[in-house]
Amino acid sequence: MNYPFDVTSYETHTRIILGFDSIKMLTPELKNIKPKKVMVMCGSNIKKTGFYSKCIEYIIQAGFPYVIFDEVLPEVPVSVVMKACEVIKKEGCELLIAIGGGSCIDTAKAAGVVVTNGGKPQDHAGYEQYKIPPIPFIAIPTTAGTSSEVTSMTVINDEENKVKFTIGHKELGCSKIAILDPQGLESCPPKVVAEAGFDAFTHAFESFISLKANPHTEALSLQGIKLISENLRPLYANRKNIHAASNMLAGSTMGGMAFTTTGCGNVHCIGRHVGPLLHVSHGLAVAMVLPAVARFNYLACPEKFVQIAQAMGEDVRGLSVYEAGKKAIKAIEELCSDVNLLKKMKDFGCKEDDFEPLAQDCWNVYERHYQYINPRQTTKNDYIDIIKDAYM
Ligand SMILES: [Fe+2]
Repeated sequence: MNYPFDVTSYETHTRIILGFDSIKMLTPELKNIKPKKVMVMCGSNIKKTGFYSKCIEYIIQAGFPYVIFDEVLPEVPVSVVMKACEVIKKEGCELLIAIGGGSCIDTAKAAGVVVTNGGKPQDHAGYEQYKIPPIPFIAIPTTAGTSSEVTSMTVINDEENKVKFTIGHKELGCSKIAILDPQGLESCPPKVVAEAGFDAFTHAFESFISLKANPHTEALSLQGIKLISENLRPLYANRKNIHAASNMLAGSTMGGMAFTTTGCGNVHCIGRHVGPLLHVSHGLAVAMVLPAVARFNYLACPEKFVQIAQAMGEDVRGLSVYEAGKKAIKAIEELCSDVNLLKKMKDFGCKEDDFEPLAQDCWNVYERHYQYINPRQTTKNDYIDIIKDAYM
């Protein structure tokens, strides 16, 4: 990035409310919006938590009628989105409140688009393919990872054709309000904290070194890296650590706010194929690939790696740029290791025969998309080398 010579822009469309018991803000926010009827969207597990009960209490206090759609599933199947749309239309809901992880928030985003624009989610696949503003929604995340509460994209799973696709809109795709209450993370299992946390870290990391980074996104990315690397370990150890949970939620949204502008690079390019291939979560897939991609990308922007190392608490005094930058890679591996995510693809059933088709899949998307984002130019053979590095 050669600023200030390049023209850059940054925008976000979500009001972010952060802090312990910030969920109580649901009541005044609802009174402000005045919806005729609200639809609460969630999965079956979150309904068993005290945090969910609190959310419902605050909705009741606002005095607007509401219905509950508790059929949200992981990976956002099209069939669930369509089912939610039926309920929204039948009940005449004017506002959606998504209480859950990334899949729940993505379901609300997609349903909102389909209800106002018609058709199926597939009809709106791609970027800015719909014109009518979707039904507004409030996001209340219960994981710190996808940052869907502030991004303009939703990832949907077409289960019939076994393909995932995105629906995005820079202006219309974001939540109206995101309420980040650390109490929402209390029921999150440590494995989910770690995997979601590494997804969040990777968003901040990849947006910081993106070719599309600008001064505004860099500030968000770097602070995201700092907050996540300082707070992932304590939250993994104790989900009731309010301070760590608040900082993880804040750090995750910062990465999301940045990558909405910058995109993500080779970790996501490879990770998006590794997840379905090895049947592992997106967070685990990116954590497996991240150290290998960091080693590969390091030569393209060593000064940025020095800043990452410093943000992660490494002492770089007296070191050359190259020595100091390498400390970022070491710090990433230590963070992975401390939350039990220093894993290799071989341990999850990856075979050497998978290298070539996996590299080809990555190369196909690189040419279309990632070459404009990833800081180091990448060939198909480079992808094979990175995959080998992440393999064992
Ligand atoms: Fe991600």
